Amino acid sequence: MKTTKLLTLLPLIAALFFLSCKKEEPELEPTLYERLGGISAITAVVDQFLVNVINDPVINHRFTTANGEALRLHLIDQICEATGGPCIYKGLSMKEAHSTATNPGANVANITDEEFNALVGDLVMAMNTLNVPADLQNELLAILAPMKDDIVGNP
Ligand code: HEM
Repeated sequence: MKTTKLLTLLPLIAALFFLSCKKEEPELEPTLYERLGGISAITAVVDQFLVNVINDPVINHRFTTANGEALRLHLIDQICEATGGPCIYKGLSMKEAHSTATNPGANVANITDEEFNALVGDLVMAMNTLNVPADLQNELLAILAPMKDDIVGNP
């Protein structure tokens, strides 16, 4: 009699055992990359940004000798990686890219504060065109802003 009772309870005991073993999944916050909308959204922002740069009289002269497609792919990878996405940026460091000592073919000597701000303005304009919410814009700008010291004022 006792054994029969135990046998009927067995599935319940087993269920309780397995439930107690179930590990809590850590609740991961979505990355900025995911919240921006992934690679397609980042690509759209970079493409609109480059259109804005080409139409920006403050800085477009810097890019007349640039390899546009290589720069585009580097920017997509850089933003994808910096926002927590699956890409790996394989270009030059910001210091190397914006100095003629390490990037001799590029028109990058003595980039000014004004030029840096113009480029950031072109990025903000692109994000506004594509309806990127202001809080996500600010998160991306906060990632890019510390790069300024490596970009401005190199020979
Ligand atoms: C946060 C700001 C910036 C970021 C994230 C950025 C990013 C980059 C990247 C990823 C490259 C390609 C590096 C490589 O080829 O390996 C590059 C190159 C370059 N950048 Fe910037 N940059 C910034 C600001 C600026 C500013 C303010 C200027 C000038 C107005 C500028 C002008 C250039 C030029 C002329 C090149 C070389 C293009 C070529 O000749 O191929 N960048 N930048």
